[in-house]
Formats: sequence, structure tokens, C-alpha cells
Amino acid sequence: MLLEVIRSRRSIRNYQDRPVEEEKLQACFDILRYAPSACNSQPWHFVVVTDYEKRRALCDTFTGAYSFNRFADRAPVILAAVIDREKKIPFLGSMVRRVNFALIDVAIACEHILLQACALGLGGCWIGWFNERAIKKILAIPRSKKVISLLTLGYPESQPSAERERRSVAEIVSFNRWRSREDAT
Ligand SMILES: Cc1cc2nc3c(=O)[nH]c(=O)nc-3n(C[C@H](O)[C@H](O)[C@H](O)COP(=O)(O)O)c2cc1C
Repeated sequence: MLLEVIRSRRSIRNYQDRPVEEEKLQACFDILRYAPSACNSQPWHFVVVTDYEKRRALCDTFTGAYSFNRFADRAPVILAAVIDREKKIPFLGSMVRRVNFALIDVAIACEHILLQACALGLGGCWIGWFNERAIKKILAIPRSKKVISLLTLGYPESQPSAERERRSVAEIVSFNRWRSREDAT
């Protein structure tokens, strides 16, 4: 079941004019709690936007270079995924490794939400390209917080094919030692 959901999930940018039931949203939020995180820090906070005026205001920020995300104005739910708090040890680890663990944690939680949504017949799409300052202002998110992504959720208007361009396993996996992309082809 889970693997089927992973295989069939597509980014959905067209939504029916139909609200998402509260129980389905709660199921998405419950499942995100099970996402792994560095030192179990669970650094995420999600602002859920269902209010019509607020959604309008968010979508009005998709202008100029952001205008290709205008499709979000058809989504009945928009989430803002935020790094809320960072525990000291993973934060220090992030500095040493120069890998932002909290960002990874929030991204995994986002994928949990999208997979649960897909399993419930909903669709969603990541929005990584947005005017963070404007979004923070509308949602009263403090300047000190980092908004990792927005996610749209809703009932798909149409279901895109599960088939899509994906790199082959041979190209993206190597056994026992590094192998460059050129060697694989
Ligand atoms: C970090 C991230 C940022 C993304 N940002 C956007 C975005 O700003 N707008 C958009 O339409 N899709 C965005 N996407 C969706 C990708 O375009 C999509 O996942 C990719 O084309 C593969 O298609 P699929 O999700 O249908 O398999 C983003 C996806 C990720 C993971």
C-alpha cells in the first residue's frame, strides 16, 4: 500500500473546488509526527491556511519571478513548513557537517504529509520558490524563523500519469565505491 502510494504520487497543480475534510487534514498532521529527525528534535511547525482571504493574500505574492506558482490559488489548503526550534546538538552538528539537519527534518515531514494526502485521495505540491518575507508577514511568522516550503493540498481535478522521467537505478546507485555518472552510461 505504502509503496503503491509512493509510486503513484505526482505533484498536483489542479484542484477541484471542494474543501478538504478536517479528519483528512488531521490524518496528514498526525502522520508527520512520525517523521525521523536529527536527535529526535522534531524542529517543525506547520501553519495551515484554509481561510479564503489568507489564501488569496498568499497567492497574491506569486507575481513576477514567482508567478508560475499561481496555480496555488486553486488549492483549498496551503501549508507553510517552518523550522520552529533547533536543538543544540543537531544545530552544532549542522555547523560542523555544514548540512542543515533541521531543513532535512522538515523536508521529510513534508513528504510524510504529501504521501498521507495521496493515500487519502488528495493531491499536493511542494512550492519551494516563493517570497519568504511576504509569506511571513501574511502569516505572522517571526522573522527569526525559516520557512522551508509551502505545500498545497486539495482534491485533484485530474490525475497525471504515474509514468514520468526518472533516472535509472544504474545511474544513481553504485556499489562499494563512488562511480561517476559518465562511467554509468
Ligand atoms: C524542494 C522542492 C521544491 C519544489 N518547488 C516547486 C515549485 O516552486 N513549484 C512547483 O510547481 N513545483 C515545485 N516542486 C515540485 C517538483 O517540480 C516535482 O516534484 C518534480 O517535477 C517531480 O514531479 P512529481 O512530483 O510529479 O513526481 C518542488 C519540489 C521539491 C521537492
